Amino acid sequence: MAGYRLTMGSWVPITMLMCCFIYGGILLTTNSPRPLSSSSRSDAPRHRSHRGGYSAYKAPGDQSVYNRTLGFGEVFYLSLPSRTDRQDAVELLAAYSNVSVTYVPGVDGNSIVEKAKPTKSQVTVAELGTWRAHANIWKKVMHSTEYEAALILEDDIDWDDNFAPILERLTKHLPKAGSSPPYGHEAWDVLWLGACLHTVKPESGGQKAKVIRYDDPMAPNRSEMREYDRKYFDEHPELGGPYKDSGERVIHEAYQPVCTMAYAVTKKGAQRLLYHIGYRQLDGPVDLAMAWATSAGRIKGWIVWPPLITAWRLGGPKDSDIQKSNSPSKGNDDGHSDGIKKSARKAMAAHFMTPRN
Ligand SMILES: *[C@@H]1O[C@H](CO)[C@@H](O)[C@H](O)[C@H]1NC(C)=O
Ligand SMILES: *[C@@H]1O[C@H](CO)[C@@H](O)[C@H](O)[C@H]1NC(C)=O
Ligand SMILES: *[C@@H]1O[C@H](CO)[C@@H](O)[C@H](O)[C@H]1NC(C)=O
Repeated sequence: MAGYRLTMGSWVPITMLMCCFIYGGILLTTNSPRPLSSSSRSDAPRHRSHRGGYSAYKAPGDQSVYNRTLGFGEVFYLSLPSRTDRQDAVELLAAYSNVSVTYVPGVDGNSIVEKAKPTKSQVTVAELGTWRAHANIWKKVMHSTEYEAALILEDDIDWDDNFAPILERLTKHLPKAGSSPPYGHEAWDVLWLGACLHTVKPESGGQKAKVIRYDDPMAPNRSEMREYDRKYFDEHPELGGPYKDSGERVIHEAYQPVCTMAYAVTKKGAQRLLYHIGYRQLDGPVDLAMAWATSAGRIKGWIVWPPLITAWRLGGPKDSDIQKSNSPSKGNDDGHSDGIKKSARKAMAAHFMTPRN
């Protein structure tokens, strides 16, 4: 993927994008989305044991990341109503991790009548439905009176078993986290926690992209990283030099992120997204439209690398609601995610496969 560039109006090879539009296929729903608590309703903080001993910070980060919505106002996930397998998976993962998620049904692009399509709408039917599902969430966030930011997930994700401690550490480094806790929402519209690709902001007019780099022992080491992530650091000295095997993260200005697997959006960010990606036009699939709006300076965001959330892959047709595959799908026992240190899906498997006492 070296040399890959995403520029206004150009397309990256479709194979690179396959990862990104997974749930974007077809689905029907007229039901209004209902919050669905994935596990117990208790809102008590759920400090976990920090098995890795990572909690020994000198100064703690914001403790609200340990609440049931990970310090966000709400954690939404999108899934085609037909993909009950993926809904089970996300909710099981969430319950195992003590996170409450709110299901939002994906949208069948065919259900969007001609007159309701945004200007341009240079997208496939599946991409149109995907955009609509995200836009439906932006509307909810935009109107929230209860909170400032929400996390939006797709239905094929994995996160680290230390996800909340990883977020706690992130809160210590995000700009304006002090004045707008826990995530410093004053300083961004979108916070990408799980992009699959990203074009780093180039230096322009002597202005360099802002970069905040910090140690994170819960980040993957080089051999645990995806090839793409290794190159990401190797090929971008402006991010602060070689990546340390002891684990690091870099927060930097978002420029052109690809994939909508996991991102947070603020209330004012949701307004901007709906304005630029819908009300005005839809100039491409939702993730690329977000990338273009960001590199054009209309959306302000941070992106964290290596990503905190990556895709869970089974191999075969189950992995995509758009692409066809002839190879047989394997089960979750053979699934994998790349680029996270301690897969929560694998930790969950180990937990449930251990004989119950
Ligand atoms: C978790 O913390 C965030 C930030 O303080 C807050 O907006 C949200 O309502 C809390 N969630 C729960 C379930 O208490
Ligand atoms: C979830 O909560 C239970 C009970 O409090 C705790 O034992 C477990 O470690 C928590 N799991 C995570 C991933 O935080
Ligand atoms: C990276 O992590 C793997 C286990 O995931 C471990 O086997 C390996 O020794 C680690 N490498 C370094 C250099 O720390």
